[in-house]
Amino acid sequence: METIQSQVDELISQMTPAEKAGQLTQYFYFRLPPGAEPGLDFDAEQQPRMVESAVGEGGAGSLLFVTDPAEINRLQRLALEGNRLGIPLLFGFDVIHGLRTILPVPIAMAASWDPQTIERGQSVAAREARAVGIHWTFAPMVDIARDPRWGRIVEGAGEDPYLGAAVAVAQVRGFQGGELGSPESVIAGPKHFAGYGGALGGRDYDEVNLSDSELWNVYFPPFKAAVDAGAGNVMTAYMGLNGIPAGGNRWLFTEVLRELWGFKGFVVSDANVVRSLVTHGFAADLTDAAARAVNAGVDMEMAVSDAAYAHLPEALESGAASPEAVDASVRRVLEAKIRMGLFDAPYVDEDRAREVLADPAHRDVARIAAERSAVLLRNEDDLLPLDASSVSSIAVIGPLADSKRDTIGPWVFDFDLDETVTVLEGIRAKAGDGVRVDHARGIRVVQREFPSMFDMFGRNRPSDPDGFDEEAEFQQAVDLARGSDVAVVVVGEWQNMIGEAASRSSLELPGRQLELLQAVVETGTPVVLLVMNGRPLDLRWAAAHVPAILDIWYPGTHGGAAVANLLFGEVAPGGKLPFSWPRTVGQVPMVYAHARSHEPENQGRRYWDEASTPLFPFGYGLSYGRFEYANLSVDQPATTSGGTVTVSVEVTNAGDREADEVVQLYLGQRYGSALRPVRELKGFQRISLSPGESRTLEFRVGPNERRYWNAAVRDWVSDPSTFDVWVGGDSTAELATSFEVTQE
Ligand code: BGC
Repeated sequence: METIQSQVDELISQMTPAEKAGQLTQYFYFRLPPGAEPGLDFDAEQQPRMVESAVGEGGAGSLLFVTDPAEINRLQRLALEGNRLGIPLLFGFDVIHGLRTILPVPIAMAASWDPQTIERGQSVAAREARAVGIHWTFAPMVDIARDPRWGRIVEGAGEDPYLGAAVAVAQVRGFQGGELGSPESVIAGPKHFAGYGGALGGRDYDEVNLSDSELWNVYFPPFKAAVDAGAGNVMTAYMGLNGIPAGGNRWLFTEVLRELWGFKGFVVSDANVVRSLVTHGFAADLTDAAARAVNAGVDMEMAVSDAAYAHLPEALESGAASPEAVDASVRRVLEAKIRMGLFDAPYVDEDRAREVLADPAHRDVARIAAERSAVLLRNEDDLLPLDASSVSSIAVIGPLADSKRDTIGPWVFDFDLDETVTVLEGIRAKAGDGVRVDHARGIRVVQREFPSMFDMFGRNRPSDPDGFDEEAEFQQAVDLARGSDVAVVVVGEWQNMIGEAASRSSLELPGRQLELLQAVVETGTPVVLLVMNGRPLDLRWAAAHVPAILDIWYPGTHGGAAVANLLFGEVAPGGKLPFSWPRTVGQVPMVYAHARSHEPENQGRRYWDEASTPLFPFGYGLSYGRFEYANLSVDQPATTSGGTVTVSVEVTNAGDREADEVVQLYLGQRYGSALRPVRELKGFQRISLSPGESRTLEFRVGPNERRYWNAAVRDWVSDPSTFDVWVGGDSTAELATSFEVTQE
């Protein structure tokens, strides 16, 4: 530590204000496919030239969006040659759910409720990223999302702070390994601090207004957990939170993150966030914006061009930017570079990179993650798993069923479609020679109404085969279903309909998908519905008419193989929903952990035209096993506010197949010094049980599980009260017990 500090001191003492500003500036470096339209506000030819000259003059400390190891080496050489102090570049990138090997999307990984699977997945992502020369990932996204209209719900862990925190920790561990700088690891950057998921109306980038209680009890905990797990970086949000834009919010980055939580890493702005302090009407000009951001504790600016931090020398000169703040930021950035071993080994071995990217073990990790993420939403009369010996023909229907690009989902750039396994391919490979597997697309792909910001990368926009005749194809799909033993219909959203800048005002299945599904169901052939999604969709009709529904999300590189294993019962689905699945967009936002409230006569019904319950509750997911819960008990009837009780429960698989269950513990405080949610998740364990096997599980419920932020006293409190405990397979669990907490 001391040597790192003295190395940093030595460097800082020699740096000019311009060199310091350079270290605090990160540029995008895009290499777009020929002829691509950037779509963003920059010149695709001129921008890389500008960045190269900045790099060559010490005007950039970090780059993002370069994934080719040869390019990384070339740019690193440029930086080292142009930098009199020999300070290397730090390369960052959005390795959100894999680099070459694509894992299921983050919301799917969260649906595994399995920290080990999540950690293993992100360690593969880190291994691939580091092998190509990336040192830092802009992940995990730990923003709580309670409004599925917001497209970025797909990047996070859903609605719940407890699950969100557990998933955040697993991801930080996966990315960073044992500690910052471990071999084959990258720096993790939880984002977007803070509150981004609360965008008004679910509209991406819109302002966020969160109560004190929501902020501390719901939106902060996953960040705090990621920081406690040692995350080396944090990224700012874009928007204003309660009236203060993230890039200028000193309270967030200095008082909460550093002073209160002890965060030791560096903070990066989201893209152009510092510049946009001017757009927000918060800063007068770029110099003012730079001063406000650096004074607030934003160490590095991420910019496409015209970085505001290039004006830091002026801001220092005029006294607007604090020299201590600037030096502290430079210190943090240099420390990260030293810890990552960049001064000793700035270049990357290109041959080794190729080997690591091709490692077949990585594909297995992705397949297993997809198997463990799928959520079985309906299974009437045990239609699933399919019995391969009694099925001789399968109709696989829908354009998503054989779309490689959609199978791997949004936020991926470095994928290899040749090795991506679609649902159709997976079923074909698994079903074997005796089973006829045919495919009909049925309908056209659906295009977004406005272009996606990722269209510029190519291969992102879906298309129909040449000469596609929708009427004929629709009929062919229905005929195929009629003549088959079972129909597997794949519906959902095309991957570019979800993600950043991809909010929707509706949750309906896009295009004619519902119509196609209805026509197939009408044939009388049993239908298995596979849903490819990153947000809940309006499945009211399907939930009443389709016997089997499996949510496969965007399952990743070997997603189709995973789906086939699930359909044929090689593995049993054990995932659970990380959000409450609304019936219709009009119910949004809908969370299970809502406060107790006035109960009028109409039995809790809040809409006259729709139920007030979700279509599928938070934590829900069926299985091929049948789980029974019994003997729920607490080891002591009462404890004091500092005390811990142990809850135990016996879980039995009364079915006839080995299967996984996610056992969930919910806690509710009956009375106290503030309104508390009706119940909150405070423990979970994913277990595998053989047929007939029983296991007794224990959960410890201590002060951390009971304390909460009280907005009246503006502090954490722990109330004496009666606490109810429910344990079961989802958030509507009824098996209950209780215990008392008395004053210390
Ligand atoms: C997103 C970030 C992302 C960054 C760099 C921004 O538009 O909000 O989440 O890390 O771009 O790609």
